Amino acid sequence: MNSTHPNQGPGELDIGIAEIDLQHRHLLYLLERLRSSTDKQYGYAANAILDELAIETRIHFAVEESLMRLLSFPGTEAHLEEHRKLAGQLEKFRQRAQDFDVADGLSSFIQTWLIDHVDSYDRKFVAHFLAMGVDPLAAPKPD
Ligand SMILES: [Fe+2]
Ligand SMILES: [Fe+2]
Repeated sequence: MNSTHPNQGPGELDIGIAEIDLQHRHLLYLLERLRSSTDKQYGYAANAILDELAIETRIHFAVEESLMRLLSFPGTEAHLEEHRKLAGQLEKFRQRAQDFDVADGLSSFIQTWLIDHVDSYDRKFVAHFLAMGVDPLAAPKPD
């Protein structure tokens, strides 16, 4: 898995809408950084990464949810419900992290919390967004 920089080339996670892909790559990057920080010794670095992950996740979900609403995506409610579930799982994960108990379940957390959601939910709105005129290449310029 790619743990270098989030804005690097296409990955398996990409759904074909650049702005969303950049956010997914950033979330994956943070999770991979969390993995390498827990490989050594759990501590301040891991907590800081989890804080950033919580913020970036809130922003990312808000972006997807606004787009779904504005573009009248039929699956919006189910998707929102799933985001609520994921936000709760992340919160639980952060609480477990306070007890230094996170390294073991991290791989399966990445798989179910990010990769499975993108595959089962985010991919479903792509055709609708594109049909509604979303520019798949529009994205913020890198810093
Ligand atoms: Fe989503
Ligand atoms: Fe997403």
